[in-house]
Amino acid sequence: MGSVAPTSHFAALPSPPRDEIFELLGAYRRDTHPDRVNLGAGVYCDDAGEPWPLNVVRDVESAMYEKADPHRHDYRAIEGDTEFLALARDFTFSTACEANRLTSVQTVSGSGANHVGARFLAETLRPRRVWLSNPTWSNHELIWETVGVPIHFYPYYNAETRNFDFEAMMATLEKEAQANDVIVLHACAHNPTGLDPNQAQWAAIGELCQRKGLFPFFDNAYQGFASGDPDRDAWAIRHFAQLQPAVEMCVAQSFSKNLGLYGHRAGAFHVVAANDGCSPQVRDAVIANLAQIIRSEYSISPRYGSDIAKAVLGSKALTAQWYSELQTMSSRIISMRQALYNELVRLGTPGSWTHIVDQIGMFSYTGLTFPEVKYLRETYHIYIHSSGRISIAGLNTKNVKYVASAIHAVRSNPAAVPSA
Ligand SMILES: Cc1ncc(COP(=O)(O)O)c(C=O)c1O
Repeated sequence: MGSVAPTSHFAALPSPPRDEIFELLGAYRRDTHPDRVNLGAGVYCDDAGEPWPLNVVRDVESAMYEKADPHRHDYRAIEGDTEFLALARDFTFSTACEANRLTSVQTVSGSGANHVGARFLAETLRPRRVWLSNPTWSNHELIWETVGVPIHFYPYYNAETRNFDFEAMMATLEKEAQANDVIVLHACAHNPTGLDPNQAQWAAIGELCQRKGLFPFFDNAYQGFASGDPDRDAWAIRHFAQLQPAVEMCVAQSFSKNLGLYGHRAGAFHVVAANDGCSPQVRDAVIANLAQIIRSEYSISPRYGSDIAKAVLGSKALTAQWYSELQTMSSRIISMRQALYNELVRLGTPGSWTHIVDQIGMFSYTGLTFPEVKYLRETYHIYIHSSGRISIAGLNTKNVKYVASAIHAVRSNPAAVPSA
């Protein structure tokens, strides 16, 4: 018998680009320099630069361990844990709309909610296009590409003024968006720019969606983490949910950042129906369609993180403790923004830096260029995304002066920075 030359089906696979943030994290971990600084990953660290499991989460975990419920490893229903879902829903929507307008399923955190939601809309609403902000969280593009809906971008960031470009966003959507298009909106703490619309601007965006029949898709990954106040951070979602005539919309919710449950993948996807979409029959059909998507992809969502979120949200005392820890995290971030700004101003670093304190949430779009970012990494061991976005959570009282002095050195001597 003649031997057949082995030919792998995978030998000629294309190499799609790896996610830059995870690549950056790997490079940071391999770097042994004592001054290395990780400003890439969106993970909260304390002032010692260490991960910070929330005390409220630790308390709930201890109680869960003590209780040792024999059902704690059971499967949940495909659509998820209904008690968790009701609490997660109230956390985001409060009393903004009638409960019977809301249909929810549990997801593999915010990324899973974005994906299940995109696939659900691609299959049911069949939009001609989806509108993403330029720039946006990189996974939005990948997710919508995967579900095959043509992607268009609306202007969001003005690089010259380093501000949110509300006028350009509205002009583009007004002119080009059409009924039934999906528009992805960051509920608060826009990633990567850290710039959010103000309430009047949100109201105008809501009116535009209402008038043009656009379908808003809110990505709610930072509720409570941005300002420290979950109600304030949910303002835009609640405003849209209150609009009459009603606007149909959906929300992808994550507990990764606000409860620090990153690896446990706790999240939900909520559909807000118009007034005639509230019948039990319609809601059952929505759940059944979502459940079919979930079943075919991962069958059932993880339960450890959602059990923790449920325990916290289901207790007034634990919720109060959580809210105070949200304040701890968000105020540390705000104070680090101020410290970086103060230091750059004190050093007289060329450029304007007020945007660092004007932005909100985990990230700051610094305005550093790719060659500057590369130089900072190679010369100072400071790891920053190529867009110039820094995770403020990686700054602390011990490294902020070092980071500012490195930025100062780079900006004061542009000739030293090789073009990339
Ligand atoms: C804008 C945005 N949406 C969604 C997510 C999803 O995060 P996760 O899947 O960890 O919940 C993130 C996380 O970085 C994000 O920044």
